[in-house]
Amino acid sequence: MNMIPVANPQAQVSALRTEIDKAISKFLSGNVYILGSEVSAFEQEFASYLGALFACGVANGTDAIRLALMAVGVQAGDEVITVSHSAVATVAAIVEVGAVPVMVDIDPQTYCIDIAAIRSAITPKTRAIVPVHIYGHPADMLSIMQLAKEFNLKVVEDCAQAHGASILGKKIGTFGDAAAFSFYPTKNLGALGDGGAVVCQDPIINERVKNLRQYGWKTRYISDCHGINSRLDEIQAAILRVKLKYLETGNQRRREIGAQYSAALSNSGVIAPYTCEGVKHAMHLYVVQSKNRDALSVYLREEGIATALHYPAAIHQQAAYRIEASLVQTESIYKNILSLPMFPELSEAQVEYICQVLRVWDKD
Ligand SMILES: Cc1ncc(COP(=O)(O)O)c(C=O)c1O
Repeated sequence: MNMIPVANPQAQVSALRTEIDKAISKFLSGNVYILGSEVSAFEQEFASYLGALFACGVANGTDAIRLALMAVGVQAGDEVITVSHSAVATVAAIVEVGAVPVMVDIDPQTYCIDIAAIRSAITPKTRAIVPVHIYGHPADMLSIMQLAKEFNLKVVEDCAQAHGASILGKKIGTFGDAAAFSFYPTKNLGALGDGGAVVCQDPIINERVKNLRQYGWKTRYISDCHGINSRLDEIQAAILRVKLKYLETGNQRRREIGAQYSAALSNSGVIAPYTCEGVKHAMHLYVVQSKNRDALSVYLREEGIATALHYPAAIHQQAAYRIEASLVQTESIYKNILSLPMFPELSEAQVEYICQVLRVWDKD
């Protein structure tokens, strides 16, 4: 029996092969490879999908956070409040701009940044907040924007795991001063290589990102400010334009699979993901908590079901970013979290099989 993987970007490529082939063939007939008409078209289509005014294609999600921070005015020495429970990229991007990451605790239900913890961490040096919509569940953006207004802080949303998630019908990525998306292949909207985007509503911020992503050029070859090289490839934009059309149905299917898993786990003692009222979860990852996490993982593997850890260690406990903080909620979940297979192309039979296997689990 083949192992059922946690993610499977190849399955989507197979399903969309004809359309992707056509897009690549069109790209090969052209003579533009970077920042051409496919990138501009994708930028417009992605912004319009989100209900945003602007999207700017960049090389990856980490750069998207970095460029967004630069564009909203974060400078070396500024403090930026974020979480330790995220991909390392969130904190790495803050460090890249020379700012100081201030990692705070999470809400135990949503795993997103805790609002009271943000308030306690604000100092005169705080310049911005980077909430992460972790696993696809939106952070509490209404409270975060209120807090940001009260303390005159900038907000850069990390949307790398939450393409299409929303709060009261408004898509994440449209709340903050800017938002960063990753199109890493396994994401809900994934390229076939690296890619990212900065989304915003302000033409000035958008213009800054456009300059910063290409050596600070306003005019070709003339640098107006210090920028970096972080451009989205034409071929990736062409592929993303195909895949964008299937994002909503993919997310819907992810939520259906999640609901089936949660029903199967309802009497097991395993903690299933929580969704706040009024929120649409993008269900990028389906992460449970089990008191016997390692045994559950071994049991699933023996039944042909792969699992993963998102993540094996909190960022503030990794050598590169270690700080002496006591993040009680964050630290308490790290022994228990486990990601189950989650991608739209899982067949009904596979989902039913996984549910059957989960129903038998009785060690929590
Ligand atoms: C929460 C989060 N932020 C940022 C990133 C960085 O994106 P990328 O890998 O495209 O640089 C990722 C992806 O790994 C992520 O999951």
